[in-house]
Amino acid sequence: MPLDKPGLRVGVVGATGMVGRELLHVLDKTRLPIRELRPYSSGKTGKTVRFRGKTLAAPSLELEGLRSCDLVFFVSSDEVSKEHAPDLARRGVWVIDDSSAFRLDPKVPLVIPEVNAHALSKDRRLIAGPNCTMTPLAVAGNALHRSACVTEVRLATYQAVSGAGRAALEEFFRQTAGLGRLSAADRAPVLPKLAHSALPRPIACNVIPQVGSFDAAGASGEERKVAAELRKVWDAPRLKVSVTAVRVPVVRGHSMSAWLTFKTPLSPGRARKLLARSPGLVLHAEGDYPTPALVGGKAPVHAGRVRRGATDRELCLWLSFDNLLKGAALNSVQIAEELFRRGWL
Ligand SMILES: NC(=O)c1ccc[n+]([C@@H]2O[C@H](COP(=O)([O-])OP(=O)(O)OC[C@H]3O[C@@H](n4cnc5c(N)ncnc54)[C@H](OP(=O)(O)O)[C@@H]3O)[C@@H](O)[C@H]2O)c1
Repeated sequence: MPLDKPGLRVGVVGATGMVGRELLHVLDKTRLPIRELRPYSSGKTGKTVRFRGKTLAAPSLELEGLRSCDLVFFVSSDEVSKEHAPDLARRGVWVIDDSSAFRLDPKVPLVIPEVNAHALSKDRRLIAGPNCTMTPLAVAGNALHRSACVTEVRLATYQAVSGAGRAALEEFFRQTAGLGRLSAADRAPVLPKLAHSALPRPIACNVIPQVGSFDAAGASGEERKVAAELRKVWDAPRLKVSVTAVRVPVVRGHSMSAWLTFKTPLSPGRARKLLARSPGLVLHAEGDYPTPALVGGKAPVHAGRVRRGATDRELCLWLSFDNLLKGAALNSVQIAEELFRRGWL
């Protein structure tokens, strides 16, 4: 990667959030030649961030500052992205958006570099990063899909609280504070009454089968996103996808149980060979498996428990990965590195 180009001006909108802070860590280590980093927040409380050993102010976003960037990451909200990202891209700024605002827009590439870097185009300066629940399946299942054609995916997710942002995580910590001092009998009546607003039910000592709002058919927002985005990233419009998305009391690291149905038979042994050489994936030995506690802070998707399903055309597998890294911050920086490698940035 050439390092002698003039440096890049990089903006981060939402730099003080869960994903934003991870993004700064990843950018700290990237080989992208960053000349200047411009972090932005909601601007309500005079926040600062740390980058390359310095403390930087993170004010509310400022249009002139963003327009003179080479690259802007949006890790804030759908509303903020919708308001500013298209305009910046039209002005020639490369924009990588982690919100769900543009992921299904046919004109916007939705990119996981290991899977579909070919979707990037020099003329499409607004690029979306995918929903963090879809990414591990898209990465792990890609080689299997190319080999034996996945016709149907069924998925049950176990999603960390950090996936819902800082407010949800703070709520989780408030709910758990003091619980350990209560006896099991005293705790039982307290749990359903714990105060909550960021998530639809208390998450302490609980699991919540609702991630996003339900539609008329009873599917949650997260379930709809996973299905639609997987079809787009794999370019598989007829893929059947059923998902139950569940929030669990884990701080960091999403996991999922996946059942894949193939057009042609695929043995667990052959699948393991394909998975073992898949980029961005760590395959655990038979009998071993990843957990969220293991994958926190790690870049790759982790897979284990690869086994035959109900027929020789069905496989089951277990996946865990860091939702803040490969699920958002790292994936976005990898997109930027790919743009830079191609000489477009
Ligand atoms: N969390 C995940 O695992 C994950 C994974 C994939 C994608 N995403 C997406 O990434 C985005 C950020 O998620 P998050 O979990 O990091 O959320 P978060 O922890 O709630 O952080 C939100 C960030 O946006 C900033 N912000 C809020 N209003 C703003 C405004 N009007 N202008 C500029 N900045 C504003 C906040 O600043 P303050 O600090 O001042 O409030 C904060 O920095 C969301 O679109 C989410 O869907 C998240």
